[in-house]
Amino acid sequence: MQHYLSIHDIPDLETALQEMAILKQHPLITNHIGKGKTLGLLFFNSSLRTRLSTEKAARNLGMEVLILNVDRDSWQLEFEDGVVMDATKAEHIKEAAAVLSQYCDLLAIRAFPRLQDKAEDEAEQVLSAFAKYATVPIINMESSTAHPLQGLTDAFTITELAKTKIAQGKKLNVVLSWAPHPKALPHAVAHSFVKTMQRMDVHFKITHPQGYELNKQIVGNTPVVYDQKAAVVEADIIYVKNWSSYTEYGKVVSQDTSWQVDEALLQAAPQAKVMHCLPVRRNVVIVDAVLDSPASAVIQQAGNRTYAAQYVLQKLLTHGN
Ligand code: CP
Repeated sequence: MQHYLSIHDIPDLETALQEMAILKQHPLITNHIGKGKTLGLLFFNSSLRTRLSTEKAARNLGMEVLILNVDRDSWQLEFEDGVVMDATKAEHIKEAAAVLSQYCDLLAIRAFPRLQDKAEDEAEQVLSAFAKYATVPIINMESSTAHPLQGLTDAFTITELAKTKIAQGKKLNVVLSWAPHPKALPHAVAHSFVKTMQRMDVHFKITHPQGYELNKQIVGNTPVVYDQKAAVVEADIIYVKNWSSYTEYGKVVSQDTSWQVDEALLQAAPQAKVMHCLPVRRNVVIVDAVLDSPASAVIQQAGNRTYAAQYVLQKLLTHGN
């Protein structure tokens, strides 16, 4: 693994999940690997889980951690080549990435999309520039198009939640369900979840209202059902997430509250565990009665972020070994 930019940077997902299970049982088993090494965490946007779980993972490996909130503590960065820098942006990515590469052995970056222009967001200007100009491996902590640390966490959490059924050799039924949200949210988590489930041996479908179709290139042959209740029947896992429209890019085309995940929906899937990457707006996306019930797996899921990050950091430090 040269960088960790996408879930596809993990060549063998099943082996990765087995190694993560060992890390969860024995988090300090590899705490010599990062001795004398430094992880840089660069945030262009807010975070709770990604920031602290990645820092914890680095510390489990014996690494030092440097954190920079680029959005408020650093110089504004210029990403265009050949530009006359006589406006507000004081530092070019060429110098910034090269300098940071001298302080850090790995660089992790969070940079959300603006959701104004699909082509601009899909060019992944920030992540691509760091991958181009840094001389150390880059980790995607959620970019415009992907959140692969979350995707890896989600795959691992599903294997934990459905251990019994998996041991019986039965295939899991996994559903990704859109739910309402007042703000326009990115597609990164949903797209990474779709890519991850397509690599797992599960029955997987997506459900959302008309107008919230995800990127066709990513969805591929995954079934899409426009009736949420029908989609979740017999589900073992209901993964709840909001995203803005992809076709009417970045727009909130409906806030249909009937798609909120509540007890009535779970009656159609009484055995289902409910996942969400967090943060979640209670009683907008998922009701209290579900989040506070044994069906909710969101805390276990967030806890597993540490082991996904630790697995990735370890692989990058040991060149995939
Ligand atoms: N799920 C997730 O990435 O959480 P944060 O935005 O808090 O990092």
